[in-house]
Amino acid sequence: GWKMENVLDEEIKVIKSTVGPEDHVICALSGGVDSTVAATLVHKAIGERLHCIFVDNGLLRYKEQERVMATFKKDLHLPVTCVDATEQFLSKLKGVEDPEVKRKIIGKEFICIFDAFAHDLEKKLGKKPAYLVQGTLYPDVIESCPPPGTGRSHSHTIKSHHNVGGLPKDMKLKLIEPLKLLFKDEVRQLGKILDVPEGFLKRHPFPGPGLAVRVLGDVTKDSALDILRQVDEIFIQSIKDAGLYDTIWQAFAVFLPVRSVGVQGDQRTHSHVVALRAVTSQDGMTADWYQFDHKFLDHVSRKICNSVRGVNRVVLDITSKPPSTIEWE
Ligand code: XMP
Repeated sequence: GWKMENVLDEEIKVIKSTVGPEDHVICALSGGVDSTVAATLVHKAIGERLHCIFVDNGLLRYKEQERVMATFKKDLHLPVTCVDATEQFLSKLKGVEDPEVKRKIIGKEFICIFDAFAHDLEKKLGKKPAYLVQGTLYPDVIESCPPPGTGRSHSHTIKSHHNVGGLPKDMKLKLIEPLKLLFKDEVRQLGKILDVPEGFLKRHPFPGPGLAVRVLGDVTKDSALDILRQVDEIFIQSIKDAGLYDTIWQAFAVFLPVRSVGVQGDQRTHSHVVALRAVTSQDGMTADWYQFDHKFLDHVSRKICNSVRGVNRVVLDITSKPPSTIEWE
């Protein structure tokens, strides 16, 4: 079999021989396992000629920016510029309800910011960066360009994954995709050898368009993002406390664009509904809904309604993939 140590040595050799001794490399960190492992690998091969950017698009989870920046800097010593672009993203998303349009807008804004980063770097270095690192995995490759005759082409144009493709124009950046033959579990093994903290490697995957695909409809309405962040944090924290986090592939909350009637204290309320989703999976291509025990669900539901203002109903998603996708949009 192939050992991860060999894969690591091989990858570093390939990166060193591909990237010239004067070449600079850029990388966008999403805060996920894939881009972090890819960047750490490249950093190990070429050191400070790697330049990373982390964009806070305002669609991230609770305290996400602080948490990931701490890992990048304190644990991994990665050279990272953090850009807070919340206003830029949210103003472009105002009033937009169509999931694919949301994805396109987010993808386009991201390219804009990344482009500016690359050009600033060019000014600073007096030359263009030559390469771009992407944490593309094997499943991303086959989901985006399904091999002909696999019958997957239709189902997988359903969602456009914005992290594949879309490079800054006029930069002529060449791609480095050190993970493109690996599955998620292999990336985690590789990260472990690279000393990426265990807790970080076990993080659930998170979609590039972020909470925009978990707030159904207009993401800028009704402080939906704030509510969703609080609900999601309670759900995830409860899952961790129950020792279930590592068994689950992905767990998250979804903000629904409906209100329902409730009674809290002696008040009639007309508030928001949130859905909880948790699935097990090998690679995200198929998934089974996770069967929590009822006591756990009862605890989470009470905690959410008691501590998140504006939520009076919690529902559970009991669909697998297929027929559903993991995300709701
Ligand atoms: P679906 O919802 O298609 O998701 O069953 C499969 C896996 O992909 C993630 N996902 C995305 N990741 N950009 C990403 O980087 C995207 O646009 C995107 N859409 C879905 C999803 O969270 C799940 O892990």
